[in-house]
Amino acid sequence: MIDVIEIKKDFPIFKDNADFVYLDSTATSLKPSSVIRAMSEYYSHYSANIFRGVYDISERSTKEYEETRSLVKEFIHASSEAEIIFTRNTTESINLFVNGMSDRLQRGDEIVTVISEHHSNFVPWQQLAQKKGLIFKIIDVDKTGTWQEDWQSLITKKTKVLATSHVSNVLGTLNPIRQIIKDIKKINPDIVILVDGAQAVGSVSVDVQALGCDAYVFSAHKMLGPTGVGVLWAKEELLDTLPPYQFGGEMIRSVTPQKTVFANLPHRFEAGTPHIAGVIAFKQAILYLQGKGLKKIYDHEVALAQDFYNKLNNTFGKDVTIIGPAQRASGIVAFTINGVHAHDVAQILNEDNIAVRAGHHCAMPLHDRLGVEASVRASFYLYNSFDDVDTIVRSLIKVRKMFNK
Ligand SMILES: Cc1ncc(COP(=O)(O)O)c(C=O)c1O
Repeated sequence: MIDVIEIKKDFPIFKDNADFVYLDSTATSLKPSSVIRAMSEYYSHYSANIFRGVYDISERSTKEYEETRSLVKEFIHASSEAEIIFTRNTTESINLFVNGMSDRLQRGDEIVTVISEHHSNFVPWQQLAQKKGLIFKIIDVDKTGTWQEDWQSLITKKTKVLATSHVSNVLGTLNPIRQIIKDIKKINPDIVILVDGAQAVGSVSVDVQALGCDAYVFSAHKMLGPTGVGVLWAKEELLDTLPPYQFGGEMIRSVTPQKTVFANLPHRFEAGTPHIAGVIAFKQAILYLQGKGLKKIYDHEVALAQDFYNKLNNTFGKDVTIIGPAQRASGIVAFTINGVHAHDVAQILNEDNIAVRAGHHCAMPLHDRLGVEASVRASFYLYNSFDDVDTIVRSLIKVRKMFNK
């Protein structure tokens, strides 16, 4: 069981605002003291650049930076630290990967993605397809988030890449990635599969080798870590074939006026000074999650989402439209109160000290597909309680009254 009262003590944001109901962890999670402390400690006590100095504090910052890489490697069960590339966020991880794949793709090759993808895993591929004359195919989903029945018919011998999320940031669905990858590789074993794990890694135990994907990306800030830190994991043999994303310091082995020899993995993809404090503090986020237990966190957030889903249905009936399946599989619940704009709902909830997100949640193609202009999204994480569910439901009843629904 998750002890929310105890957990809340670790999150300073609740110190001056004990009744705050934060339901926007899908956008970014709150940060525990250990993460904040690690950031501050770096800046206060050893704020040296990495890989450069032979003096003590630089050796310490380098060591701690690399310790996070080792922990990330363990956390997602990668086979080597060389496969863990630190970026700014999921978006940059995907752009880095798309840029790298670009040289391997030719006019007429196919890229497949899903209509429910976050723009980060949609727009870069769409733009690459337009630039290079590739065929951009999109798997459709139904109202419950289930992939169109014949999605496999989109995969052909010309398909070179499939990009999909692990957990959808609107539907809240947990895609059966392992099975999907098996099915794809049966049709064409050479397809490169990128999984956007931004909404998964913070509570779903991920084993990239067992999943069978070729690349997996995520952001630290959605899993209790600092903003400005992301991860691209990809198989070493694949990364070895990709060109660097950016050129400059730290990514080279030698430079002469005629020629540059690039550094080995992972540094070849980490040009310039990275977010050192953020990467170091990210370790504390992972340790915190491991300390609480991912399975417990996952079960907790799903139970809250399910409770909210049931109460929304029971309380509002036809006045509410909930996006995604009846069986919740993550902490995410997006919905509309019929006849009330999502932004109005979010604003009224804000007056009651409840933070939710309103809009298209960077998933416009999905909203268009479902015929919804904007939705409200409540997302539950380890610091939320069943009381939070009751609080938001009470506030929504108020919204309905205000709009005479
Ligand atoms: C599924 C998914 N992918 C990608 C992103 C982009 O993450 P970031 O803004 O950290 O790059 C998000 C952010 O909400 C997301 O939910």
